[in-house]
Amino acid sequence: MEFPAYRPRRLRRTPALRAMVRETALDVQDLIYPLFVKFGSGKRDEIASMPGVFQLTLDQLPSEVDELKSLGIPAVILFGLPEFKDEAGSGAYAEDGIVQQAVRAIKAYDPDFTVVTDVCMCEYTSHGHCGVLDEGGCVMNDVTLELLANTAVSHAAAGADVIAPSDMMDGRVAAIRSALDDEGFSEVPIMSYSAKYASAYYGPFREAADSAPAFGDRRAYQMDPANGEEALRETALDIAEGADIVMVKPALAYMDVIRRVKDEFGYPLCAYNVSGEYAMVKAAAANGWIEEKRLVLETLTGMKRAGADIIITYHAKDAARWLKEGK
Ligand code: PBG
Ligand code: ZN
Repeated sequence: MEFPAYRPRRLRRTPALRAMVRETALDVQDLIYPLFVKFGSGKRDEIASMPGVFQLTLDQLPSEVDELKSLGIPAVILFGLPEFKDEAGSGAYAEDGIVQQAVRAIKAYDPDFTVVTDVCMCEYTSHGHCGVLDEGGCVMNDVTLELLANTAVSHAAAGADVIAPSDMMDGRVAAIRSALDDEGFSEVPIMSYSAKYASAYYGPFREAADSAPAFGDRRAYQMDPANGEEALRETALDIAEGADIVMVKPALAYMDVIRRVKDEFGYPLCAYNVSGEYAMVKAAAANGWIEEKRLVLETLTGMKRAGADIIITYHAKDAARWLKEGK
Protein backbone atom coordinates (compact mmCIF):
# COMPACT_ATOMS: atom_id res chain seq x y z
CA MET A 1 0.00 0.00 0.00
CA GLU A 2 1.06 3.52 -0.68
CA PHE A 3 0.00 7.02 0.18
CA PRO A 4 -2.77 8.17 0.00
CA ALA A 5 -4.34 4.73 0.53
CA TYR A 6 -1.97 4.09 3.40
CA ARG A 7 -1.58 6.81 6.00
CA PRO A 8 0.56 5.68 8.98
CA ARG A 9 -0.70 8.65 11.00
CA ARG A 10 -4.17 7.05 11.27
CA LEU A 11 -2.90 4.70 13.96
CA ARG A 12 -1.12 7.46 15.85
CA ARG A 13 -4.24 9.55 16.27
CA THR A 14 -5.19 8.62 19.87
CA PRO A 15 -3.38 7.19 22.91
CA ALA A 16 -5.62 4.09 22.77
CA LEU A 17 -4.79 3.37 19.14
CA ARG A 18 -1.10 3.95 19.74
CA ALA A 19 -1.18 1.54 22.67
CA MET A 20 -2.96 -1.14 20.64
CA VAL A 21 -0.35 -1.25 17.91
CA ARG A 22 2.67 -0.77 20.17
CA GLU A 23 5.22 -3.47 19.36
CA THR A 24 7.46 -3.38 22.41
CA ALA A 25 6.58 -3.18 26.07
CA LEU A 26 9.01 -2.39 28.83
CA ASP A 27 8.12 -4.46 31.88
CA VAL A 28 9.51 -4.08 35.39
CA GLN A 29 9.72 -7.89 35.57
CA ASP A 30 12.56 -7.80 33.04
CA LEU A 31 14.79 -5.51 35.10
CA ILE A 32 17.75 -6.47 37.28
CA TYR A 33 19.15 -3.91 39.73
CA PRO A 34 22.92 -3.92 40.48
CA LEU A 35 23.94 -3.77 44.14
CA PHE A 36 27.38 -3.02 45.56
CA VAL A 37 27.89 -4.65 48.94
CA LYS A 38 30.61 -4.14 51.51
CA PHE A 39 31.60 -5.11 55.04
CA GLY A 40 30.73 -3.00 58.05
CA SER A 41 27.37 -1.80 59.23
CA GLY A 42 25.02 1.11 59.03
CA LYS A 43 26.42 2.54 55.82
CA ARG A 44 24.86 3.63 52.54
CA ASP A 45 27.61 5.47 50.68
CA GLU A 46 26.59 7.19 47.48
CA ILE A 47 28.86 6.74 44.47
CA ALA A 48 29.92 10.21 43.29
CA SER A 49 29.70 9.48 39.57
CA MET A 50 26.44 7.54 39.95
CA PRO A 51 23.94 9.71 41.84
CA GLY A 52 21.26 7.57 43.49
CA VAL A 53 23.43 4.43 43.56
CA PHE A 54 25.01 3.35 46.85
CA GLN A 55 27.54 0.97 48.31
CA LEU A 56 25.64 -0.87 51.04
CA THR A 57 26.78 -2.71 54.13
CA LEU A 58 25.26 -6.16 54.72
CA ASP A 59 22.75 -4.97 57.33
CA GLN A 60 21.18 -2.66 54.74
CA LEU A 61 20.14 -5.52 52.46
CA PRO A 62 16.73 -6.39 53.97
CA SER A 63 15.42 -2.84 53.64
CA GLU A 64 16.88 -2.63 50.14
CA VAL A 65 15.06 -5.82 49.16
CA ASP A 66 11.85 -4.41 50.64
CA GLU A 67 12.18 -1.30 48.52
CA LEU A 68 12.91 -3.25 45.33
CA LYS A 69 10.01 -5.61 45.94
CA SER A 70 7.61 -2.77 46.59
CA LEU A 71 8.60 -1.40 43.19
CA GLY A 72 8.08 -4.79 41.53
CA ILE A 73 11.76 -5.32 40.69
CA PRO A 74 12.34 -9.08 40.83
CA ALA A 75 16.13 -9.41 40.97
CA VAL A 76 19.51 -7.97 41.88
CA ILE A 77 23.00 -8.65 40.59
CA LEU A 78 25.61 -8.47 43.34
CA PHE A 79 29.09 -6.96 43.21
CA GLY A 80 31.32 -7.17 46.24
CA LEU A 81 33.93 -4.97 47.88
CA PRO A 82 36.19 -7.29 49.88
CA GLU A 83 37.95 -6.52 53.16
CA PHE A 84 41.36 -6.98 51.52
CA LYS A 85 42.76 -7.76 48.09
CA ASP A 86 45.58 -10.11 47.12
CA GLU A 87 47.35 -11.41 44.03
CA ALA A 88 45.08 -14.45 43.79
CA GLY A 89 41.82 -12.63 44.49
CA SER A 90 41.04 -15.00 47.32
CA GLY A 91 38.13 -12.86 48.54
CA ALA A 92 36.22 -13.90 45.42
CA TYR A 93 35.92 -17.54 46.43
CA ALA A 94 36.11 -17.27 50.24
CA GLU A 95 33.23 -19.07 51.90
CA ASP A 96 32.60 -16.04 54.09
CA GLY A 97 33.40 -13.54 51.31
CA ILE A 98 31.31 -10.43 50.91
CA VAL A 99 29.12 -11.69 48.07
CA GLN A 100 28.64 -15.08 49.73
CA GLN A 101 27.49 -13.32 52.91
CA ALA A 102 25.27 -10.95 50.97
CA VAL A 103 23.56 -13.82 49.15
CA ARG A 104 22.94 -15.58 52.47
CA ALA A 105 21.59 -12.41 54.05
CA ILE A 106 19.14 -11.79 51.20
CA LYS A 107 18.05 -15.41 50.99
CA ALA A 108 17.57 -15.61 54.77
CA TYR A 109 15.37 -12.53 54.57
CA ASP A 110 13.45 -13.55 51.45
CA PRO A 111 14.14 -16.87 49.73
CA ASP A 112 11.94 -15.91 46.77
CA PHE A 113 13.84 -12.78 45.79
CA THR A 114 16.09 -13.57 42.83
CA VAL A 115 19.82 -13.12 43.37
CA VAL A 116 22.27 -13.08 40.48
CA THR A 117 25.98 -12.97 41.29
CA ASP A 118 28.68 -11.46 39.12
CA VAL A 119 31.65 -13.82 38.96
CA CYS A 120 34.97 -12.08 38.34
CA MET A 121 38.32 -11.50 40.01
CA CYS A 122 38.90 -7.78 39.42
CA GLU A 123 37.24 -6.56 42.62
CA TYR A 124 39.39 -8.99 44.64
CA THR A 125 42.84 -8.88 43.05
CA SER A 126 45.43 -6.39 44.29
CA HIS A 127 46.27 -5.54 40.66
CA GLY A 128 42.63 -5.14 39.60
CA HIS A 129 42.74 -7.51 36.64
CA CYS A 130 40.03 -10.09 35.97
CA GLY A 131 42.32 -13.09 36.56
CA VAL A 132 45.66 -14.11 38.03
CA LEU A 133 48.84 -12.80 36.41
CA ASP A 134 52.01 -14.43 35.14
CA GLU A 135 55.41 -12.82 35.79
CA GLY A 136 55.02 -10.60 32.75
CA GLY A 137 51.72 -9.16 34.01
CA CYS A 138 49.58 -11.13 31.54
CA VAL A 139 46.31 -12.67 32.78
CA MET A 140 46.69 -16.46 32.77
CA ASN A 141 43.60 -17.95 31.23
CA ASP A 142 43.54 -21.58 32.30
CA VAL A 143 44.79 -20.97 35.84
CA THR A 144 42.05 -18.38 36.30
CA LEU A 145 39.34 -20.82 35.21
CA GLU A 146 39.71 -22.86 38.35
CA LEU A 147 39.34 -19.80 40.58
CA LEU A 148 36.26 -18.66 38.67
CA ALA A 149 34.74 -22.13 39.02
CA ASN A 150 35.44 -22.08 42.78
CA THR A 151 33.85 -18.64 43.00
CA ALA A 152 30.75 -19.80 41.14
CA VAL A 153 30.37 -22.87 43.37
CA SER A 154 30.73 -20.74 46.52
CA HIS A 155 28.00 -18.39 45.25
CA ALA A 156 25.69 -21.29 44.44
CA ALA A 157 26.37 -22.85 47.83
CA ALA A 158 25.34 -19.56 49.45
CA GLY A 159 22.05 -19.72 47.54
CA ALA A 160 22.58 -17.68 44.36
CA ASP A 161 19.85 -18.23 41.77
CA VAL A 162 21.93 -17.31 38.70
CA ILE A 163 25.70 -17.24 38.15
CA ALA A 164 26.97 -14.47 35.85
CA PRO A 165 30.64 -14.72 34.80
CA SER A 166 32.00 -11.39 33.54
CA ASP A 167 35.74 -12.08 33.29
CA MET A 168 35.99 -12.94 29.55
CA MET A 169 38.42 -15.84 30.01
CA ASP A 170 38.14 -18.47 27.27
CA GLY A 171 36.39 -21.64 28.40
CA ARG A 172 34.95 -20.20 31.59
CA VAL A 173 31.35 -21.21 30.97
CA ALA A 174 32.36 -24.87 30.49
CA ALA A 175 34.59 -24.76 33.57
CA ILE A 176 31.86 -23.20 35.70
CA ARG A 177 29.14 -25.50 34.35
CA SER A 178 31.08 -28.64 35.12
CA ALA A 179 32.08 -27.42 38.60
CA LEU A 180 28.48 -26.52 39.41
CA ASP A 181 27.25 -29.89 38.15
CA ASP A 182 29.92 -31.77 40.13
CA GLU A 183 28.92 -29.99 43.31
CA GLY A 184 25.21 -30.68 42.96
CA PHE A 185 24.14 -27.37 41.41
CA SER A 186 23.01 -28.63 38.03
CA GLU A 187 19.82 -26.56 38.32
CA VAL A 188 21.63 -23.25 38.75
CA PRO A 189 21.66 -21.35 35.44
CA ILE A 190 24.58 -19.42 33.97
CA MET A 191 24.03 -15.96 32.54
CA SER A 192 27.22 -15.38 30.65
CA TYR A 193 28.62 -11.96 29.78
CA SER A 194 29.24 -13.42 26.32
CA ALA A 195 29.91 -10.29 24.29
CA LYS A 196 31.62 -7.98 26.74
CA TYR A 197 33.57 -5.13 25.22
CA ALA A 198 36.64 -3.28 26.50
CA SER A 199 34.64 -0.12 27.08
CA ALA A 200 35.16 3.39 28.42
CA TYR A 201 31.57 3.15 29.65
CA TYR A 202 32.68 1.14 32.72
CA GLY A 203 34.44 4.13 34.31
CA PRO A 204 31.93 4.88 37.09
CA PHE A 205 31.58 1.16 37.95
CA ARG A 206 35.27 0.95 38.68
CA GLU A 207 34.82 3.71 41.24
CA ALA A 208 31.76 1.92 42.67
CA ALA A 209 33.45 -1.48 42.87
CA ASP A 210 36.98 -0.20 43.44
CA SER A 211 38.15 -2.41 40.58
CA ALA A 212 40.21 -0.29 38.19
CA PRO A 213 43.28 -2.16 36.90
CA ALA A 214 46.44 -0.90 38.65
CA PHE A 215 48.32 -1.01 35.34
CA GLY A 216 47.38 -1.45 31.70
CA ASP A 217 43.82 -2.12 30.58
CA ARG A 218 41.49 -5.02 29.80
CA ARG A 219 41.94 -5.10 26.03
CA ALA A 220 43.76 -8.43 26.09
CA TYR A 221 40.63 -10.19 27.35
CA GLN A 222 37.58 -7.99 26.72
CA MET A 223 36.39 -7.47 23.14
CA ASP A 224 37.40 -4.79 20.66
CA PRO A 225 34.48 -2.32 20.28
CA ALA A 226 34.99 -2.47 16.51
CA ASN A 227 33.93 -6.13 16.26
CA GLY A 228 30.46 -7.52 15.58
CA GLU A 229 31.17 -10.88 13.93
CA GLU A 230 33.35 -11.79 16.86
CA ALA A 231 30.41 -11.22 19.21
CA LEU A 232 28.58 -14.00 17.38
CA ARG A 233 31.55 -16.35 17.73
CA GLU A 234 31.91 -15.55 21.44
CA THR A 235 28.19 -16.12 21.98
CA ALA A 236 28.22 -19.40 20.02
CA LEU A 237 31.06 -20.65 22.24
CA ASP A 238 29.25 -19.73 25.44
CA ILE A 239 26.07 -21.44 24.28
CA ALA A 240 28.03 -24.55 23.30
CA GLU A 241 29.64 -24.53 26.75
CA GLY A 242 26.29 -24.36 28.51
CA ALA A 243 25.23 -20.73 28.93
CA ASP A 244 21.50 -20.43 29.65
CA ILE A 245 21.27 -16.67 29.12
CA VAL A 246 23.70 -14.66 27.00
CA MET A 247 24.61 -11.00 27.38
CA VAL A 248 25.70 -7.98 25.40
CA LYS A 249 27.55 -5.30 27.36
CA PRO A 250 27.51 -2.30 27.18
CA ALA A 251 24.12 -1.76 25.55
CA LEU A 252 23.78 1.72 24.07
CA ALA A 253 26.72 1.67 21.64
CA TYR A 254 26.03 -2.01 20.84
CA MET A 255 22.35 -2.11 19.86
CA ASP A 256 23.30 -3.75 16.57
CA VAL A 257 25.09 -6.51 18.46
CA ILE A 258 22.00 -7.09 20.62
CA ARG A 259 19.90 -7.48 17.48
CA ARG A 260 22.39 -9.75 15.73
CA VAL A 261 22.83 -12.03 18.73
CA LYS A 262 19.06 -12.29 19.17
CA ASP A 263 18.48 -13.06 15.49
CA GLU A 264 21.32 -15.54 15.25
CA PHE A 265 20.65 -17.60 18.38
CA GLY A 266 17.15 -16.80 19.64
CA TYR A 267 18.50 -17.31 23.15
CA PRO A 268 17.36 -15.48 26.26
CA LEU A 269 19.36 -12.26 26.04
CA CYS A 270 20.36 -9.75 28.66
CA ALA A 271 21.56 -6.23 27.83
CA TYR A 272 23.70 -4.46 30.44
CA ASN A 273 22.90 -0.74 30.54
CA VAL A 274 26.23 0.07 32.18
CA SER A 275 27.50 2.63 34.68
CA GLY A 276 28.78 5.16 32.14
CA GLU A 277 25.47 5.13 30.30
CA TYR A 278 23.74 5.88 33.60
CA ALA A 279 26.24 8.58 34.59
CA MET A 280 25.79 10.46 31.30
CA VAL A 281 22.02 10.57 31.72
CA LYS A 282 22.27 11.68 35.34
CA ALA A 283 24.76 14.43 34.53
CA ALA A 284 22.65 15.79 31.68
CA ALA A 285 19.48 15.57 33.78
CA ALA A 286 21.13 17.40 36.69
CA ASN A 287 21.90 20.23 34.29
CA GLY A 288 18.35 20.33 33.02
CA TRP A 289 19.54 19.44 29.53
CA ILE A 290 17.29 16.43 28.96
CA GLU A 291 13.96 15.11 30.19
CA GLU A 292 15.20 12.25 32.32
CA LYS A 293 12.01 10.21 32.58
CA ARG A 294 11.21 10.18 28.87
CA LEU A 295 14.82 9.63 27.92
CA VAL A 296 15.35 6.67 30.25
CA LEU A 297 12.12 4.95 29.24
CA GLU A 298 12.95 5.53 25.57
CA THR A 299 16.44 4.07 26.00
CA LEU A 300 15.26 0.98 27.88
CA THR A 301 12.45 0.43 25.38
CA GLY A 302 15.02 0.71 22.59
CA MET A 303 17.07 -2.05 24.18
CA LYS A 304 14.02 -4.29 24.27
CA ARG A 305 13.17 -3.41 20.67
CA ALA A 306 16.75 -4.30 19.71
CA GLY A 307 16.19 -7.78 21.13
CA ALA A 308 16.93 -7.77 24.86
CA ASP A 309 14.67 -9.86 27.10
CA ILE A 310 16.33 -8.75 30.32
CA ILE A 311 18.02 -5.44 31.17
CA ILE A 312 20.49 -4.87 33.98
CA THR A 313 20.15 -1.20 34.78
CA TYR A 314 20.94 1.34 37.51
CA HIS A 315 17.76 3.14 36.37
CA ALA A 316 15.61 0.18 37.50
CA LYS A 317 14.08 1.90 40.55
CA ASP A 318 13.24 5.09 38.67
CA ALA A 319 11.95 3.15 35.68
CA ALA A 320 9.76 1.01 37.95
CA ARG A 321 8.24 4.14 39.50
CA TRP A 322 7.63 5.76 36.13
CA LEU A 323 6.10 2.61 34.67
CA LYS A 324 3.73 2.45 37.65
CA GLU A 325 2.71 6.09 37.20
CA GLY A 326 1.96 5.40 33.57
CA LYS A 327 -0.49 2.61 34.40
C1 PBG B 1 33.72 -6.99 36.32
C2 PBG B 1 32.61 -6.13 35.81
C3 PBG B 1 32.65 -4.83 35.28
C4 PBG B 1 31.35 -4.46 35.04
C5 PBG B 1 30.53 -5.53 35.38
N1 PBG B 1 31.32 -6.56 35.84
C6 PBG B 1 33.81 -3.92 35.09
C7 PBG B 1 34.86 -4.21 34.13
O1 PBG B 1 34.83 -5.19 33.38
O2 PBG B 1 35.81 -3.43 34.14
C8 PBG B 1 30.90 -3.12 34.50
C9 PBG B 1 29.52 -2.71 34.86
C10 PBG B 1 29.20 -1.27 34.66
O3 PBG B 1 29.98 -0.47 34.12
O4 PBG B 1 28.10 -0.90 35.07
N2 PBG B 1 34.52 -7.53 35.33
ZN1 ZN C 1 36.53 -8.28 36.08
